[in-house]
Amino acid sequence: MNHSARSIVLIGFMGTGKSSAGRLLSQRLDWPLFDSDALIEKKLKMSIGEIFSTLGEEHFREEESDVVQRLLPTRPSIIVTGGGVVLRGSNVVRLRELGTVVCLTSEVNDLQKRLLCPSDRPLLQVEDPGRAIEQLLEKRAPLYRAAADVTINTSSLSPDQVADSILDALAIAK
Ligand code: S3P
Repeated sequence: MNHSARSIVLIGFMGTGKSSAGRLLSQRLDWPLFDSDALIEKKLKMSIGEIFSTLGEEHFREEESDVVQRLLPTRPSIIVTGGGVVLRGSNVVRLRELGTVVCLTSEVNDLQKRLLCPSDRPLLQVEDPGRAIEQLLEKRAPLYRAAADVTINTSSLSPDQVADSILDALAIAK
């Protein structure tokens, strides 16, 4: 399949490198970048941490779905999503309409190293964040698998190598 005319949608667990890969892809291809977390923060004029602590996770999920449903790129774009976007099937349906869904994964040890240093992620503000990462991953792994057209393990890759691997996997000329 020729993916070159479709947007690239990045999904995957926190800390797998979606944001940096998204930025690099946007620069290299000169495609617009949409980042669902950034769009939510802009809309509510609050950080993700503030949204979770004052409005709660459920409210955040509503905003996340709203942003995903309203995405309407007028040309192929890079779409970066938050790690929990796959929790709602309707988000996944929409993202798959928008483009080729690329899931970034990493070994759990690497995620723990990257995310616990310390993390500002609201879901990791718990007594045992290392265990929380394992539990969230266990719950979400099948959702990421089901949503993805392509999966790339970023554990031993630099951000530039992640961007290269995505372009290679989608057969987009660099
Ligand atoms: C979340 C991941 C975060 C952000 C929010 C919830 C999650 O995005 O959307 O904190 O549920 O995994 P990143 O994946 O960019 O960290």
